[in-house]
Amino acid sequence: MKKNIDTEEAMIRWDSFAESYAANHSDQGDAHKEVLLNPTLFSLMGTVEHKKVLDAGCGEGYFSRLLAKSDAIVTAVDYSQKMIELAKHRTPDEFSIKYYQGNCEDLHFLVDSRFDIIVSNMVMQDLENVEKAFREMYRLLVDGGTFVFSILHPCFVTPESGWVKDDYGNKLHWKVDQYFYEGVYEQRFGDEEKVLLFHRTLTTYINTLLTIGFRLEKITEPKPTQAMLKKYPSFEEDFRCADFVVFKLKK
Ligand SMILES: C[S@@+](CC[C@H](N)C(=O)[O-])C[C@H]1O[C@@H](n2cnc3c(N)ncnc32)[C@H](O)[C@@H]1O
Repeated sequence: MKKNIDTEEAMIRWDSFAESYAANHSDQGDAHKEVLLNPTLFSLMGTVEHKKVLDAGCGEGYFSRLLAKSDAIVTAVDYSQKMIELAKHRTPDEFSIKYYQGNCEDLHFLVDSRFDIIVSNMVMQDLENVEKAFREMYRLLVDGGTFVFSILHPCFVTPESGWVKDDYGNKLHWKVDQYFYEGVYEQRFGDEEKVLLFHRTLTTYINTLLTIGFRLEKITEPKPTQAMLKKYPSFEEDFRCADFVVFKLKK
């Protein structure tokens, strides 16, 4: 396992992966986002109408567009220049989303206390210095503002996790190893591309947030609804093990 690879290296990979990542995203994102993450994030954010919302790590921008459709006033940042180009290209003019290329670990070009809500969907496990990023989120929120973010569930998705299968390919159980390892690892997306992820324990995430001054209001481990299972029966396996955890915090 390689070490000392920082956010800049991770970003080179996101830039080269951006086109195929975007090709896999429609107006609801991908299936995991449609089934598990979008309903959870919207439910935790509460009403977004006329609220100033930052989408931190917006990727190709599908979630920013959902927010704009719900009448939020949306600013979106991503460190990948390529992702920002794709997001702008995919956004109709009437949405007036402000897109910026920027590193969530240092968003100095955005003034303090600027947002009512910050949402970050599957980004905080992709950057090297999560404490710096959380401090930026805290700085950018108004007092009483809400920070909602989703990550791969760090208790189940680790550098050495995956299904153990029998000789016929049946999934016997989910294996977890290297939970206490904190640092970079590679994860394969599709056939070829590998992105860099930064594993850290649940303790590290929660204690870092509390030290900065956030108040933890709710945690959700999303499960599919019956309606979503009818549309995507393969999500039945999400009752065996959680893919994601979503946090709601208050400044
Ligand atoms: C898994 S994708 C999620 C994108 C989007 N939120 C979504 O749900 O489709 C992770 C995104 O985080 C961005 N990213 C990674 N590190 C970042 C950083 N330090 N600052 C800003 N964006 C970052 C990547 O460029 C990529 O677009």
